[in-house]
Amino acid sequence: MRKILVTSALPYANGSIHIGHLVEYIQTDIWVRFQKMQGNECYYVCANDAHGTPIMLRAQKEGITPEELIARVHTEHNQDFQDFSVQFDNFYSTHSDENRHFSSLIYKGLQAGGHIIQKTIKQAYDPEKQMFLPDRFIQGECPRCGAKDQYGDNCEVCGATYSPTDLKNPVSALSGATPIEKESEHYFVNLADFENMLKEWTKSGSLQPEVSNKLGEWFTDGLQAWDISRDAPYFGFQIPDTENKYFYVWLDAPIGYMASFKNLCDQKGLNFDEFWAEDSEAELYHFIGKDIIYFHALFWPAMLTGGKFRKPTSIFAHGFLTVDGYKMSKSRGTFITARCYLDHLNPEYLRYYYAAKLTPNVDDIDLNLEDFIQRVNSDLVGKVVNIASRCAGFITKRFGGMLADALPDVALYDSFIEAGAEIAQDYEARNYNKAMRGIMALADKANQYIDENKPWVIAKEEGKDAELQAICTQGLNLFRVLMSYLTPILPPMSQAAENFLNAPMVWQPEALLNHKIEKFKPLMKRIEQAQVDKMVDASKEDLAATQPAAAPKKPANDNPPIADVIAYDDFAKVDLRIAKIVNAEHVEGADKLLQLTLDIGEENTRNVFAGIKDAYAPETLIGRYTVMVANLAPRKMRFGISEGMVLAAGPGKKDLWILSPDEGAQPGMKVK
Ligand code: MSP
Ligand code: ZN
Repeated sequence: MRKILVTSALPYANGSIHIGHLVEYIQTDIWVRFQKMQGNECYYVCANDAHGTPIMLRAQKEGITPEELIARVHTEHNQDFQDFSVQFDNFYSTHSDENRHFSSLIYKGLQAGGHIIQKTIKQAYDPEKQMFLPDRFIQGECPRCGAKDQYGDNCEVCGATYSPTDLKNPVSALSGATPIEKESEHYFVNLADFENMLKEWTKSGSLQPEVSNKLGEWFTDGLQAWDISRDAPYFGFQIPDTENKYFYVWLDAPIGYMASFKNLCDQKGLNFDEFWAEDSEAELYHFIGKDIIYFHALFWPAMLTGGKFRKPTSIFAHGFLTVDGYKMSKSRGTFITARCYLDHLNPEYLRYYYAAKLTPNVDDIDLNLEDFIQRVNSDLVGKVVNIASRCAGFITKRFGGMLADALPDVALYDSFIEAGAEIAQDYEARNYNKAMRGIMALADKANQYIDENKPWVIAKEEGKDAELQAICTQGLNLFRVLMSYLTPILPPMSQAAENFLNAPMVWQPEALLNHKIEKFKPLMKRIEQAQVDKMVDASKEDLAATQPAAAPKKPANDNPPIADVIAYDDFAKVDLRIAKIVNAEHVEGADKLLQLTLDIGEENTRNVFAGIKDAYAPETLIGRYTVMVANLAPRKMRFGISEGMVLAAGPGKKDLWILSPDEGAQPGMKVK
């Protein structure tokens, strides 16, 4: 029996859990449930990540203490996880005594080893609020395009990246005051000391290629010392033997894994050292998103080494969630919180869909809402549940709920059991996508068996009772094997199947013969399109209030007559896309044309010459969204090659208006 400790990244205690987070918690929960089902001793711990400036400020804004904020969010998160069947063995908090203890222990270990250095650095400071400002709290004008109210280090209008000190007319987002530069002494972990250890660890073989490649890049760039201190006011743990220095939230966050486990050990009488001592033989895995690899693959092993603890067996990084191909977005209604999802849909649908999409690599995963409905309905309702519903009624009505005493097709049953070995390997390797394909292939086979043996026909024939009972017994036993393989994915449905079959869901079960089952109740309903639509509507932020009204433009009254009709197919050939004008310039020697650079998503840009010079000054176009014909054959013009057309309406010259999509449309979206 393996001893395994598993963690998911600790969600910040100032926001709601959303369907992006759930990729990770569902992925981890499935793996843990699988390990437990295999009989391994496996623990799954998590906690709220409670420290840092945003949490401090959020509490201030609400007029409550950070502790009150954390407690409220903790309850909310707990309920969300429970409702999605994400079953932690402990869900704790980084703002805890255990975490203070281990943070100070590790810090002192690093200090004793000579790995802590002190340096004076210059930082932006808000003289009114009297605090240092993290990058994201500095606002100003983009140094490239001049767009106002840009935060931190990148421009949302033109996409430029820069250092926050490059912002023009910077102001503190907290007070509106102009930040000043101020010096302060900071504490750093000298990461270079750990380079050899990290190189060894990378070679240990169990890291994902993406993670070891990242480490490789960081070694090449040279390991920079890591700043682990923040000045007061800060919500966190004070650094031992300092006056007003606090641990940066990312120092004590991963230590929260240990703290949560220690708290579990104290509740359950488990041996902490067995899992964390330097010579531990237990396995330790961290499931994380690809955005936080740096903290887990670089800082964390260094901290553990400094504190004389063991290193992780592996880090399992996953990609980011997109919805219908794009980043979750409030305006599109795809920034869906766990609670909003639960208000409209069964959580098991999402668990299954994510499982069907998840692989062991760090590729982003897409929740395509149309595919989601189709996939869940066809696989779970149409294939799996269907097997039971086609057989159960006959057993109940005709045989008093009793299954036959032998299987008519033992070889078929055995082939289902044998398939469990490969499915188990796929779960172990986090290749859930492959495991689901394996399970659905079996479901197809089971349905095929029922189709061929036609219980509904045999039921009407005289003297075929034994045959009918045997066929239905076969069908229900195949169903049970499938449900046992799906147990890590669908815990509530598996429980319902257990109740119905009156038998536990174990991996590779013995057939149920001469056994009494309960009356069948539908195990899962189909997803209706309307439920999904309502969820998306409910997630849409009301943007109308925040958008300035567009300047009214005089419509032209000399509209040309509507052209002859064309076939729909001809129209469908035109590929219209939302484009963002990332640059617009005068063209030397051209009296009608502007040269536009259009972003049509996924790093695709097009160069287009548009006859709109009389209607628009180029600088007024930069950052605007419009519509372009993206599949027009490139045309060689005097000034260069034009790779498409933008759509504009009006008689021409000054009276020309380019089309603008509503707020929410993103570059590259197809116009339909
Ligand atoms: N508090 C830190 C983690 C500290 S771990 C010692 C943090 N919190 S988070 O709330 O922002 O994210 C929690 C986890 O959810 C991270 O692993 C993150 O990568 C993951 N995800 C957050 N948004 C996500 C998507 N849109 N898609 C997939 N995973 C995402 O980071
Ligand atoms: Zn800009």
